[in-house]
Amino acid sequence: MDQSDPFRDKRDLFDLPDGIVYLDGNSLGALPKAVKSRLREVVEEEWGKSLIAGWFDHHWVTLPQRTGDKIAMLIGADAGEVVVTESTSINLYRAIHAALQLRGGKAVILTEELNFPTDLYVLDAIERDSGGTVAVRRVKKDRLMENLTDEVAILTLTHANYRTSGRHDLAALTAKAREAGALTVWDLSHSAGALPVDLNGSGVDFAIGCGYKFLNGGPGGCGYIFVARRHQNKILPTLAGWMGHKRPFDFSPDYEPAGGITRQLTGTPFVLGIAALDAALEVFEGVDMTALADKAGKLGDLFIALVEEQCPEIGLACPRAAHLRTSQVTFRHRNAENIMAALAKRSVIGDFRPPDVMRFGLTPLYTRYEDVFRAATALKDILKN
Ligand SMILES: Cc1ncc(COP(=O)(O)O)c(C=O)c1O
Repeated sequence: MDQSDPFRDKRDLFDLPDGIVYLDGNSLGALPKAVKSRLREVVEEEWGKSLIAGWFDHHWVTLPQRTGDKIAMLIGADAGEVVVTESTSINLYRAIHAALQLRGGKAVILTEELNFPTDLYVLDAIERDSGGTVAVRRVKKDRLMENLTDEVAILTLTHANYRTSGRHDLAALTAKAREAGALTVWDLSHSAGALPVDLNGSGVDFAIGCGYKFLNGGPGGCGYIFVARRHQNKILPTLAGWMGHKRPFDFSPDYEPAGGITRQLTGTPFVLGIAALDAALEVFEGVDMTALADKAGKLGDLFIALVEEQCPEIGLACPRAAHLRTSQVTFRHRNAENIMAALAKRSVIGDFRPPDVMRFGLTPLYTRYEDVFRAATALKDILKN
């Protein structure tokens, strides 16, 4: 299977330590070699030699938009619809406030009770600070469709769940939201770079996501925000700042928003972090996302089959059908924490989520079928001994 893998040459683009089976790219993506050389160049040549002239000589000022354009290609957005800035949490705050502004008046925000914690915390804080105009409604995944009534102003969900790896049907939920007159805000942290995503084809209004997982932007790397072009110039950003000003270097005391996606920016871009993400995105050159998801499905199918055959006491905690999960496979065991620690001692890196969840990110650009086989063999050995 490794020999006929269409992505077999992509692994060489990453700097992976020898002997390690790294199955945690759903949490922190591996290091692309291009990032090492690009960061050295930015630090030593650009910052070191050009100093402040770097803002224009090396185009640091437009790095958030240029890197955003590269992400746009992976998520079915157009150039000029995505900008890289701050964290996913902050971008969710931005996107929800933008959607509230478009809707005006009282608003119900619908989400899933098992959404990622930061998403729930941000929504609760927005409700708390709204003076009673915003109400957040958390429902179970299988009750979302029936709860999408005309009372709902905003539907916000994470496309693929961080714990179960289960996907939402983004197109169907977005269509239903539009029918109900609601705007959509999708968190793509666990799907961008792992699955095909078609934001414009589905009519999504806003999206956000992490740069440090499947996009390999490095620890603490910046996230991004997508705003559909039809909304961009109608929004006055809640987090207004000089980098979102039409002419930031006029230093005017009055805010005049830039046109397009740029007005979503607030402060000075995090050049080192964005440069890392920008270089990391090179690994996606020529990658067909459908073929990538197909490999992820096969890696997952193999892992599930081996674990179920060899470790019957471990329970499956992600969808069995490949098209319903992302490139992560999740199992459950009452000793999950100890098992993951024992796996790490055998150089197999996945992660534990309390109370009993074991997550394995089978990132298709650098995970081989051989790695999956080695991980399953180590798991069997740990449980046996
Ligand atoms: C679905 C999801 N949303 C948001 C976040 C948090 O992103 P950030 O730390 O960039 O705010 C995470 C982090 O793992 C996540 O999995």
